[in-house]
Amino acid sequence: MKPTKILVTGANGQIGRVLTEKLREVHGKESVLATDIHKLEGDHEPYQFLDILNPQRLREILADHDITQIYHLAAILSANGEWNPMKTWNVNLNALLTVFEAAREFEIQKMFFPSTIAVFGNTTPRLNTAQDVPLLPNTVYGISKATGELWCNYYHQRYGLDVRSLRYPGIIGWQSLPGGGTTDYAVEIYHEALKHGEYKCFLAKDTRLPMMYMEDAINATISLMEAPMDKIHLRYGYNLSAMSFTPEEIAEEIKKHIPDFKITYEPDYRQAIASSWTESIDDSKARDDWGWKPKYDLESMTNDMLLHLKPLYS
Ligand code: NAD
Ligand code: SER
Repeated sequence: MKPTKILVTGANGQIGRVLTEKLREVHGKESVLATDIHKLEGDHEPYQFLDILNPQRLREILADHDITQIYHLAAILSANGEWNPMKTWNVNLNALLTVFEAAREFEIQKMFFPSTIAVFGNTTPRLNTAQDVPLLPNTVYGISKATGELWCNYYHQRYGLDVRSLRYPGIIGWQSLPGGGTTDYAVEIYHEALKHGEYKCFLAKDTRLPMMYMEDAINATISLMEAPMDKIHLRYGYNLSAMSFTPEEIAEEIKKHIPDFKITYEPDYRQAIASSWTESIDDSKARDDWGWKPKYDLESMTNDMLLHLKPLYS
């Protein structure tokens, strides 16, 4: 068995920065290669520039670094994706196929593909959404991720590739800023509350969405990837859940710490995207198969976010 060498694509993103650090804690710094089209700030070596649309460079990196596992995070998210649908499809889906083919060629042992609640659409039951439901996503991001899930299943069934996937809810963390999604408001609101004492939200006050604290998302990812093979019964995205709230509810939670905090609402094009997603998720398959359990709810997440962000703004 070759020693574990992990490639992370999109390592400079909101999740990539934190996941790369955690993987380095688990496997050792030199065993995790961060790649992105943007250089990571600070000491993030080893790092290589990798545009995931460049198959030749991907193959060179897999060969030069003896890569055995790939965490393929590079993507364009739901809100930004709508500005250039064809580019989004290329980065999110065509590049995934490039990674799959290279994974076969280089006999990659394990691969992670992050999916999303954006695979759901207006025909999906909105409450306690089950694992297998109608998917009719209405963003190019959602279409690319729903299709990506099907390709995960295909590469596992056809070629035996050990690919694993999660449908992340909106991820909230203090360590990094979000990169152009519809759930970004739930990170921005903490920064603006501390910086200016007010926030103008781009979603309506009663828009309920599934969300998760970063620490839980990272733990879920590592647990899924470390689970024994016989525990993994789904090769497309496992539903994953921790909490659901509205902009009004998160604002109320912040007011417990910053009583003068004010929120106003000015919904924009992202409202239609959020309204097409579901409100809460049934993740019993993840819980039953590999023992998933979240740690944070809205209250404990808010305490921890403000604890970490306060020093930045005081
Ligand atoms: P992000 O937008 O913060 O980061 C994406 C990274 O991909 C960026 O650093 C960007 O530079 C990089 N990238 C874009 N185009 C690239 C290219 N051509 N080649 C190489 N890199 C490229 O996203 P994130 O929030 O960190 O999300 C990581 C993954 O998790 C994505 O696949 C996303 O779909 C998924 N996800 C995220 C959330 C969330 O709330 N953050 C929720 C569900 C799923
Ligand atoms: N948080 C992501 C987004 O809003 C969901 O995948 O795009």
